[in-house]
Amino acid sequence: MNKRMNKNAFCHIQCLARKVSGAHNGGVLNGNVLIRQASHCTFGDAQEFFTDDLWRTLPRSWQEALDGLNPPELATQLLGMPGEGEVVRYRSVWPLSLLALKSTACALAFTRTPGFQTPSEFLENPSQSSRLTAPFRKHVRPKKQHEIRRLGELVKKLSDLTGCTQVVDIGSGQGHLSRFMSLGLGLMVKSIEGDQRLVERAQRLDQELLQALEKEEKRHPQAVHAGPRHSPHHVVRWVEPTALCEELLLPLETLPQSGARLLLTGLHACGDLSVALLRHFSCPEVVALASVGCCYMKLSDPGGYPLSQWVAGLPGCELPYRLREGACHALEEYAKRLQKAGPGLRTHCYRAALETVIRGARPELRRPGVQGIPRVHELKIEELPC
Ligand SMILES: C[S@@+](CC[C@H](N)C(=O)[O-])C[C@H]1O[C@@H](n2cnc3c(N)ncnc32)[C@H](O)[C@@H]1O
Repeated sequence: MNKRMNKNAFCHIQCLARKVSGAHNGGVLNGNVLIRQASHCTFGDAQEFFTDDLWRTLPRSWQEALDGLNPPELATQLLGMPGEGEVVRYRSVWPLSLLALKSTACALAFTRTPGFQTPSEFLENPSQSSRLTAPFRKHVRPKKQHEIRRLGELVKKLSDLTGCTQVVDIGSGQGHLSRFMSLGLGLMVKSIEGDQRLVERAQRLDQELLQALEKEEKRHPQAVHAGPRHSPHHVVRWVEPTALCEELLLPLETLPQSGARLLLTGLHACGDLSVALLRHFSCPEVVALASVGCCYMKLSDPGGYPLSQWVAGLPGCELPYRLREGACHALEEYAKRLQKAGPGLRTHCYRAALETVIRGARPELRRPGVQGIPRVHELKIEELPC
C-alpha cells in the first residue's frame, strides 16, 4: 500500500518536473537548475515506478517528505490543489529543492482560468453560433464554429491590411475554415491537406454549401451578397516541415506586375505543420501569417524543434517526447484523480506487476507495453477478456 502511495507521489513529481522542463524549453530559463535536479524522474511511465524502482532515484530528503502521503494529501500538498474546504497541513518541513520545484512549476504553467464564461454568440443556443448563418453551421461542432469564425474574421482583417491576393489554409482537414473564408468572407482560398479522404469530404461539403447558399438566394433575392463565389481550391499534398513546398507558394491566378501576396493560415496545425508554416513565412511572396498550433508534443526533435538557433545553442535544450508530452498535461486532471482516490489508481500497480512477471520470463522485452482495460477493477475474473 505504502509503495502504491509513493508511486503516486513519484508520478506527480514527474508531472511537475515535466511542466518545468516544458516551460523552460519554451524559452523560460528559471527552471534550469531544478530540471537537472528533477531530471531523473522525468523519463518514466507510471508502472516503471515499480518495475525499475524509480522511488530510489529521488533525493533522500524528498523521499522523507513524501513517504506515505495518501492520494488526496498529494493533490493538496504536492500539486497545491486542495479539495473544497480542505486545510493544507504539512506533516514535516519540506526540503527547499522540492518546494522550489513545486513553486516553479506553478509559476511557469499557463493559466487555464478562462477570461470569459460562454462566448456571447452561444448565449441563446449553446450549440449554434448566432454569428454564423445556418448553412455555415451545418456539420460543424460549436467549438469549431467559434474557431472558424474568430480565425476567419482575423484572416479577413489581416488580408485587407496587407493587400493579400490569396489565402493558403494548410492542414485544412474537412475544410470548415476554408469554406467559411471563401464562401462566407469572399477570400480566394487554396486549401492544402495531406489526407485524400478528408479532401474528398471537404469537396462534398463545399458542393452542399454552395447549393444551400443558392437556395437561400432564390428565397431572398433582395439580399445582396458580396460578389462572385469562389469555392476553396483543394490540393492533396503532404507538406514537409524541413523543405519549402512549391505547391504552397504557387498562386491560383497569374497576377500582373506586383504578383501574388499570400497569407498563410492553419487551424490546429499540429506539431511540425506549424513549423512548416513558419518556415514558409520567410518567403518573399508570403506577406502575413495567422497560425493556431496544436499537439506540440508531435514536434520532431531535431527538425521541428528548436527553430531558434539561439535556443539550439543553449546547454540542455533537448526536449524529448516525454517532456513535450508531459508539458501538455493538465495538473488539475491529476489533482482530481488523486482527490477521488478511486480504485482506478490501482490499475497502474497491476499493470506493473504483470510487466514484472513478463520481463522475468522474457528479459528481452524491456517494455512489454501492457495496456490497461477501462474500469477493469469493476469486472469479475470471468468477465476479463482473454
Ligand atoms: C488537427 S487537424 C486540423 C484540421 C483543420 N484545420 C481543422 O481545424 O478542422 C490537422 C490536419 O492537418 C493535416 N496535416 C498534418 N500534417 C500535415 C502535413 N505535413 N501536410 C499536410 N497536411 C497535414 C492532417 O491530415 C489533419 O487533417
